Amino acid sequence: MTSYKELGLVNTREMFKKAVAGGYAIPAFNFNTMEQMQAIVQAAVETKSPVIMQVSKGARAYANGTILRYMAQGAVEYAKELGCPNPQIALHLDHGDSFEICKECIDNGFSSVMFDGSSLPYEENIAITKKVVEYAHAHDVTVEAELGVLAGVEDEVSSAVSHYTKPEEVIDFSTRSGCDSLAISIGTSHGAYKFTPEQCTRDPKTGKLVPPPLAFDILHAIEEKLPGFPIVLHGSSSVPQDEVDTINRYGGKLPDAVGIPEEQLREASKSAVCKINIDSDSRLAMTAAIRKYLAENPGHFDPRQYLKPARENMKKMYIHKIVDVLGSNDKL
Ligand code: G3H
Ligand code: 13P
Ligand code: ZN
Repeated sequence: MTSYKELGLVNTREMFKKAVAGGYAIPAFNFNTMEQMQAIVQAAVETKSPVIMQVSKGARAYANGTILRYMAQGAVEYAKELGCPNPQIALHLDHGDSFEICKECIDNGFSSVMFDGSSLPYEENIAITKKVVEYAHAHDVTVEAELGVLAGVEDEVSSAVSHYTKPEEVIDFSTRSGCDSLAISIGTSHGAYKFTPEQCTRDPKTGKLVPPPLAFDILHAIEEKLPGFPIVLHGSSSVPQDEVDTINRYGGKLPDAVGIPEEQLREASKSAVCKINIDSDSRLAMTAAIRKYLAENPGHFDPRQYLKPARENMKKMYIHKIVDVLGSNDKL
C-alpha cells in the first residue's frame, strides 16, 4: 500500500472547493509519456496553477501503471525543483471501469479515481460508485462518477450516440453514491472528431466546420439541483485548427477534425464546472510539432531533436488552456 500523501500528491477536494468558489476550472491533462509529464509540470509551475494529471486504462497498458505513478511522484519533485515549493498535483485514474481497477490505483498512490459507470444501468452505476467511494474515502481519496453518456469513439471510451445527463437524476445519484464530483454529458465527446460534418454548419468565410453549441441549459439545470457541487466535463479538447492544418500540411490526414470552441469552455469554467479534461489537444500539439520537425529536418534521427519541439508545443498549449480558457492560473 502506497498512500498518495507519501508522494506529495493531493486529492481534488480542496482544489474543487476553491475552483467552484472562484469561478474557474482545474485542468485535467492526460499523460502517457515523460515529455507530456514535463510539459504539464512546466506549464503548471509557470502559471502557478493546480493540475490534475490523469491516467487512462490505455495509458496504463502503454506505459505501465507503476511507471506512471513514479512519474507523478517525479512530477511533484520536478515542480519543487522548478521553484514551486507547494505544488498542487493530483494523480487521477481516468475512466476506471471496475471497482478492482479503482482499488488497485488507490492502493498504489493515486489521489483521485473515476469510476465510469455511465454505460451501466442506473442502479448498477450507483452501486459500484458507492462501493468505490467507501473504499476511496477510507483512504482520503476522492471519487469522480459519471451520469449520462458521451458520444464519440476513442479506444476504451466508446459510444455511438450521446445521452445527455438528466438533471432530475443528479440529486438522487450523487446523494446515494456519495461521489465527490460528477461528470456530465452536455454535448462534449472524446477524440478529435467530436461532431460529424452533418451535425455542424460551415463558416462561409473559412469553410471550417462550426460545431453545435453545448447544452448550457442542462448544465444550469444541474447547477440548480446541486448548488456548489463539482461538475466535470470530459471530451473538452478544442482541436486547434492550426495544429490540424500543420499535421495535414506535413503529410497527415485529419479531414474535418473538430472540437469544442474555447469560448464555450471559458463560459463553462465560470460555472460549477471545476474540472475540464483535455487529452486530444496534447496529442495534436505533439504530432504537429514532430511532423513539421521531421519534414524540415529529414536527416535527423535522434528522438531528442524532435521531442524537444514537441514538448515545447505541448507546454504552450497547456499554458494557453490554463490562462486563457480555464482561468486556473495564480491559484497556488
Ligand atoms: O477519455 C479518454 C482519454 O482521451 C484517454 O484515451 O484511452 O486512448 O488513453 P486513451
Ligand atoms: P478529449 O479527447 O476531448 O481530449 O477528452 C479527453 C478526456 O475526456 C479524457 O477523459
Ligand atoms: Zn473522458
